[in-house]
Parts: sequence; C-alpha cells; structure tokens
Amino acid sequence: MTNPSFHIGSVPIENRIVLAPMAGITNKAFLSIAKQFGAGLVVSEMISDKGIEFRNEKTLSMLDFEGVPHPLSIQIFGGDAKTLVEAAQFVEANTVADIIDINMGCPVPKVTKNEAGSRLLLDPDKVYNVVSQVAHAITIPLTVKIRLGWDEEHLYYVENAKAIEAGGASAVAMHTRTKAQAYTGHAKDRWEALRELKEAVHIPVIGNGDIKTPEDAKEMLDATGIDAVMIGRAALGNPWMLTRTAHYLETGELLPEPPVEEKIATAKAHLQNLVDLKGDFLAPKEFRQHAPHYLRGAPGAARIKKAVNEAETQEEILAIFDQYLLQLQTHVSAI
Ligand SMILES: Cc1cc2nc3c(=O)[nH]c(=O)nc-3n(C[C@H](O)[C@H](O)[C@H](O)COP(=O)(O)O)c2cc1C
Repeated sequence: MTNPSFHIGSVPIENRIVLAPMAGITNKAFLSIAKQFGAGLVVSEMISDKGIEFRNEKTLSMLDFEGVPHPLSIQIFGGDAKTLVEAAQFVEANTVADIIDINMGCPVPKVTKNEAGSRLLLDPDKVYNVVSQVAHAITIPLTVKIRLGWDEEHLYYVENAKAIEAGGASAVAMHTRTKAQAYTGHAKDRWEALRELKEAVHIPVIGNGDIKTPEDAKEMLDATGIDAVMIGRAALGNPWMLTRTAHYLETGELLPEPPVEEKIATAKAHLQNLVDLKGDFLAPKEFRQHAPHYLRGAPGAARIKKAVNEAETQEEILAIFDQYLLQLQTHVSAI
C-alpha cells in the first residue's frame, strides 16, 4: 500500500470506502468481491458472541474469511461484556480479522432483548465498560458501530462516542438513524450529527446511512469532515458503487455504470464464491437475494429474475445467464 488514507489503530486503510456489515450478505463470498472492487475496508455480517461461546458449528463457519484480501473486520454482537471479551479473543486467535467491530446498532428485537445491538446505546457507562474490557483483552484494533440513539428522546451519540474512545476503541462508525427509525426516514437529514461526532472525539469517525451515489459519499465527507464513508445497500449487486466512489473521491471523475454483460460476469463470480463457501445446495437459494440487484435496470430483467429464483443449481443459473446474454447479443425481441 503506497499511501493509506487513514489508519484504524495500526491498520492502514487504503481509501475512504468501507463496506457496511450486512447480515446474510457480507460473508466471505461478498467480502472477496467488495475487496476486489476497491473497498478500503470490509466488515463481516454480525456474528453472535454466544454462538462463539457455545462453539456453534454454523457460527464458527461464519468466521471463515481465509483468502479475503486484507484489511478486513469481523463484527460481533452481544449484551454481556464477559461473553464479548471471550468472543473477541476467540476471533483474534482463530480468524484472519485485522480489526474487531462491536455491533451497537442492530434494531432487531431478538438482539435488543438480550441487551445487545442498539440496546447498549441507552447506557454510555455500559458502553464504556464493554469497550474497555474488550479493547484491553485483544491486541488488534477494536471499533464500534452505533446509531444516533434508541429514539428521539435518547440521542446519546456524543456521550457514547466519547465512551467508545475513552474505552480504548480505535474508530467509531455511525448510521445516522435511531433504533426506533429502523430503516425509515432519511439518514441524510441527520448527517450533520457526524460532524458533531468528529468534533467530539479524536479517533477516526466513519459515516453511514443512505449513501446512494459517489456524489453522496463526497457530500457526506465534505459536509462533516469525517474520515471515511460506510456503504451498505447501494453496494448490493453493485460493487461498482465501491470502485466508482473511490475513483470519484480521488479524481472527481464519475465513471459510467457497467454494461449488463459485466454485471452478469460479476454475478456469476459471486455465485461461484457462494458455491465454494456453502455448496451447491444452499448457494443457489442464497443467491436469489442477490440476483435482482445485479439485474436491476437490465432489459427484460423481470423474466430472468423469476427464472433464477426458481433454479435449484449453479448449473441452471449459469445456463439462464448465458441464454440471456445470447438473447441480448442477437437482439431477440422475445426478451
Ligand atoms: C440486510 C441488512 C443487514 C444488515 N446487517 C447488519 C449487521 O449485521 N450489522 C450492522 O452493524 N449493521 C447491519 N445493517 C445495517 C447496515 O450496516 C447500515 O448501517 C444500513 O444499511 C445503512 O447504510 P446504507 O444506507 O448504506 O445501507 C444491515 C442492513 C441491511 C440492509
């Protein structure tokens, strides 16, 4: 790496683009693609500290990121400092993670009822306690991902970020919505809170929420002075969003969207990664959530999305893609 954009602890990050953690999506198959498409840092889907404690087979398989280019971060979640410490130590000792992230933003009741995810945002003292115990139990950097707060009456993001810094974490990422909002409303209306956070702490601040275009990323960075942007949904089936944003930030030039042929080639590579990771029984089913994103805007997409949805094997999906590409080339009007 020639000229890192910023550091998280001792880990240099090549550019200001971070791929957001997304459950069921940011596994090894997609992290490899996101790195290949230029994300400076990628974050795994959230992984349960209890699952690690009980050596749950499925949980342990989620920790496999062997072969993904560095740097990468593994996100854990839990509501109890002791289990989080043990989980973080396990991750450091048994995985290729360069950074560990704690989830303090998840709004799902199954998570918050166990005092985990966004529930922690209600108590900056507990945030400090959890972060300081975990940070001191590992040697790699720790980061934390938060939201603005639990609801409009409990917006403790400045207190929480200060607690996170004081506890020894090396960066904080914030999604500018409350837990009560879940994914409603407009995160962009609250980007200003990121500036407040940047002024309140000295560790790097990563901003997240509703970055849909490379221009949005620049707008967030310019308006707030933060260190990096974290992109989630806009990268689904669209890793070019990462490349295009990195390029736009560096040069001011907006690269065109890729042609359908390139989108399908990448979709095939994603499917192959999923098959390598999960086998040919599960991978085609998991791929059903990705295909519509890769095909967004493609001519005749509805029919091919339906066909992929009904396919049971990798071979069938590849045949559907190939037939579609052939039809595109020969301009068959039946598309
Ligand atoms: C399907 C999905 C799964 C998510 N899973 C996680 C997760 O495991 N951990 C986490 O911290 N945030 C998770 N998030 C939240 C995202 O990281 C991000 O904060 C949110 O999508 C807003 O950013 P965006 O507008 O760029 O998508 C998830 C979001 C989505 C859409």
